[in-house]
Amino acid sequence: MKKQSINLRQSFAIAFFILTSYCSSITAQEIIPVKTKSNALVLRVNKGKELSTIYLGEKLANDSDYAKIQGQFRQGTDYSGIYNAAYTASGSKNLLEPAITVTHADGNTSLDLLYVSHKTNTISAGVSQTEITLKDPVYPVEVHLFIQAYFDTDVIEQWTTIQHNEKGSITLNKYASANLYLKGYNSFWLNQYHGDWAKEMQPEETKITHGIKTLDTKLGSRTNLFLPSVFMISLDKPATEDEGKVLFAGLEWSGNFRTDLELDPLNNLRIISGINNAAAAYKLAKNEVFTTPKFWYTLSSKGKGNASRNLHDWSRNYKILDGKGDRLTLLNNWEATYFSFDEEKLKVLIADSKKLGVDMFLLDDGWFGNTYPRNNDDAALGDWDVNKKKLPNGIGTLVKTAKDNQVKFGIWIEPEMVSPASDLYKKHPEWVVKQQGRSEHYFRNQLVLDLANPKVQDFVYGVVDNLFTENPELAYIKWDCNAVIYNAYSNYLKDKQNNFYTDYVNGLYKVLERIRVKYPTVPMMLCSGGGGRVDYGALKYFTEFWPSDNTDPLERVYMQYEYSYFYPALTIAAHVTDWGKQSIKYRTDVAMMGRLGFDIVVKELNEKDLAFTQQAIKNYNVLSNTIWQGDQYRLQNPWGNDAASVMFVNKNGNEGVVFTYSVNSRYEAGTHLPIKLKGLQAGQNYKVEEINVYPDKKPVVETAVYSGDFLMQVGINPNVTASNSSVVLKITKA
Ligand code: DGJ
Repeated sequence: MKKQSINLRQSFAIAFFILTSYCSSITAQEIIPVKTKSNALVLRVNKGKELSTIYLGEKLANDSDYAKIQGQFRQGTDYSGIYNAAYTASGSKNLLEPAITVTHADGNTSLDLLYVSHKTNTISAGVSQTEITLKDPVYPVEVHLFIQAYFDTDVIEQWTTIQHNEKGSITLNKYASANLYLKGYNSFWLNQYHGDWAKEMQPEETKITHGIKTLDTKLGSRTNLFLPSVFMISLDKPATEDEGKVLFAGLEWSGNFRTDLELDPLNNLRIISGINNAAAAYKLAKNEVFTTPKFWYTLSSKGKGNASRNLHDWSRNYKILDGKGDRLTLLNNWEATYFSFDEEKLKVLIADSKKLGVDMFLLDDGWFGNTYPRNNDDAALGDWDVNKKKLPNGIGTLVKTAKDNQVKFGIWIEPEMVSPASDLYKKHPEWVVKQQGRSEHYFRNQLVLDLANPKVQDFVYGVVDNLFTENPELAYIKWDCNAVIYNAYSNYLKDKQNNFYTDYVNGLYKVLERIRVKYPTVPMMLCSGGGGRVDYGALKYFTEFWPSDNTDPLERVYMQYEYSYFYPALTIAAHVTDWGKQSIKYRTDVAMMGRLGFDIVVKELNEKDLAFTQQAIKNYNVLSNTIWQGDQYRLQNPWGNDAASVMFVNKNGNEGVVFTYSVNSRYEAGTHLPIKLKGLQAGQNYKVEEINVYPDKKPVVETAVYSGDFLMQVGINPNVTASNSSVVLKITKA
């Protein structure tokens, strides 16, 4: 008993000592807060000049409180600055997953990064950038951490630059963009995505357990084919649409990426994300500056819907090319003709574009190659000369026909690729990514060009530039990318093969940058045989992306629902095709949830189908601004429900549209209860009217006026059933 009381007294004394020594050191510590409208990321420099993350969460009312945040002690050891390092170096005292690992010019592998200075600048209204300089006290290696905060949208981007002044090159074995630290939550729930061709964006949610969970890709190009870099982390419990704390994040990089999620021994989550270092230890020359891609994230305390609306605003305002602009509705010939077309056939399709009422005709694959005509997917990539047999009068005559029909003209290319059956392959075998002395492996019968080589960059740029020079009225490019990189080897990089995956993507970005200097606004679709490539690094150059070759509208309800968490509707190309068994109405209603297009044989539509489609395009033109620029609300999830429901409301709250789709054809499946709308003004009255009603059919929802309050508290039943499988409601301020 006596012994116990002494121990208790001793414990108090120790606790008092820790507390007082901690408090006295508060003043000696530098606090670096980065704030957005709702959140704060707070870093602290301790007496030993170590920089750590002490807070990432909802903003506190008093800034002075951040200095009071305690370190984390375990068995008397203060782990601050080790587990929660703001950018974890390896080879010194950190033994957890590092953000950076180097081999110095002399072969030594240790690194320590200590705080030197920081500054915060305003980049533009509402955008601030904090730059923190860290240096190794022993080796001349310097790392700058950049933290860019977009105040209104609660989005933060982080990246780093790395440089050195050693006698020779150093090797970056790992070089993450960011190293987050989430502390003080009971559990973390990862919502990640996986997929394959025609099966993109399949969500999976799991509780994160101790150790490391890695999300990565090593495909080189078309890198998201099996797994995109975007993910969500719910804090404490799985977040819902409107409740819970959740972090959305992704890497702005169109190449191999790696995200490590490490639940540390103190039950805190470390998130380390960047370029995948697999087979990519980067040789960095003296004074060369290596810039990592940006890692974006947004934290919401009001569920996933709020996170996604913030992200949409951020992406439209700051990221996507022409994010605030309009998009073109179109008719694509891919599924109507595949490779089998000629000038006459295309001229009919161009006239059909006008008949349908879309803005543009898009000529897909198959228009090029003469020595090796592109009549199949096994030839001609690289030979971007017009196929004389199919198109004896060139592209120009098609552009003119389009103009005569008052529609625009767009064209498909896949300029990073080469077919072994091509003149280019014969002329420049040294431009092709392949291992000398090993047999070639093909993905869709093709190989990838070495974009690390500046001459290849010139060639790829030239493909686009020549098309525009020859056809100045060309209005749109669909940029495809159908192969992964096998047998990675760059003839150009010689003994720096490990730089290949990184230099390939930077080479691609250089080409896109040049294109955008000369053609700043021309719309371009980022396609990769589906969603193999979308990310915010690429969307800086592209106006939209192709989510999947799978255009079965039922599948698209799910896929577009998931994509929509991360990308706004104006970027999500959605085409009506003949995939699936659904009616033209269902197919069109689903495609209207994104950037609407068609890939059908118009002359095969019966009279009513045609009339329906023409009217739906007119309706879309009225509502497109609300869909593209408005706030998106997910009213009902397709997973586990009979129907999915998605709503868009324009920014001033006076127009909205609700799309509801049946996803279950079982007996009596449907919307039996009202669905509560969101984002309206409670005190306003709204007219609710059904649009996209099939000719001769009666609306299933009667036109009526309701208060916003009623629509949001009580809701309205869109009456979706197996026979009324989709219903579109237009909401207008009465
Ligand atoms: C894959 C794309 O996803 C399709 O839309 C089409 O453009 C084909 N490539 C053409 O080869």
